[in-house]
Amino acid sequence: MIKHNYPGKFIVIEGLDGSGKSAQVDLLADFLTQKGKEAILKNEPTTESEAGVKIRKILKGEIKAEPMERQKLFVQDRTEHLENKIIPALKEGKFVVCSRYAFSTIAYGYSDGLDENLLIEMNKDFLLPDATIVIDVSPAECIKRIEKRGQAKELFEKEKKLIKVNEIYKKLPEIFENIFIIDGEKPIEEVSEQIRNVVSKFL
Ligand SMILES: Nc1ncnc2c1ncn2[C@@H]1O[C@H](COP(=O)(O)OP(=O)(O)O)[C@@H](O)[C@H]1O
Ligand SMILES: [Mg+2]
Repeated sequence: MIKHNYPGKFIVIEGLDGSGKSAQVDLLADFLTQKGKEAILKNEPTTESEAGVKIRKILKGEIKAEPMERQKLFVQDRTEHLENKIIPALKEGKFVVCSRYAFSTIAYGYSDGLDENLLIEMNKDFLLPDATIVIDVSPAECIKRIEKRGQAKELFEKEKKLIKVNEIYKKLPEIFENIFIIDGEKPIEEVSEQIRNVVSKFL
């Protein structure tokens, strides 16, 4: 991936479903605002591109797509997201906090049986985040939390897949720069503190 020289900072939050991304993105935004920084919150897949809309339909089971077709849509959505939203905000000196990014394509694509190196290659021309924070929570704990949220289905299959997703998440520091894996099984406030510690170096 490509390092950027824009005045803003690009922070990505990664983690399994139920790992606490949404909660932590909100807390990080509050922290940045308190520090007088302008932060914009983003999410992939987006709801703004044609590819993003198609991905949402696939995720809801309304249309079907093979694993590679699906990951190509994520890459297309990401291309537009960078061009239209992320890069313009970074040029204006803003903090961009994005929940999920290229690392999700690599980890989830791999869990669907695609080749890891091919997935890395498909994402090589995208911006490298200034920090990618992986919220590390075991698949079993994520499933427990999602069950509480009332959204569990095909749990056995799901846990096996999440274990594969995690395999890649844990390897990210060997493949990319600026990756920080933090313990997401601590209480929300303690997880937030770990994230603030990473981001504080940009203030
Ligand atoms: N550190 C934590 N400890 C316990 N429960 C948590 C923690 N972080 C988040 N949760 C709960 O787990 C569920 C999933 O969190 P959420 O922020 O929606 O995760 P994600 O966006 O990664 O799916 C929510 O019900 C949330 O309140
Ligand atoms: Mg979420």
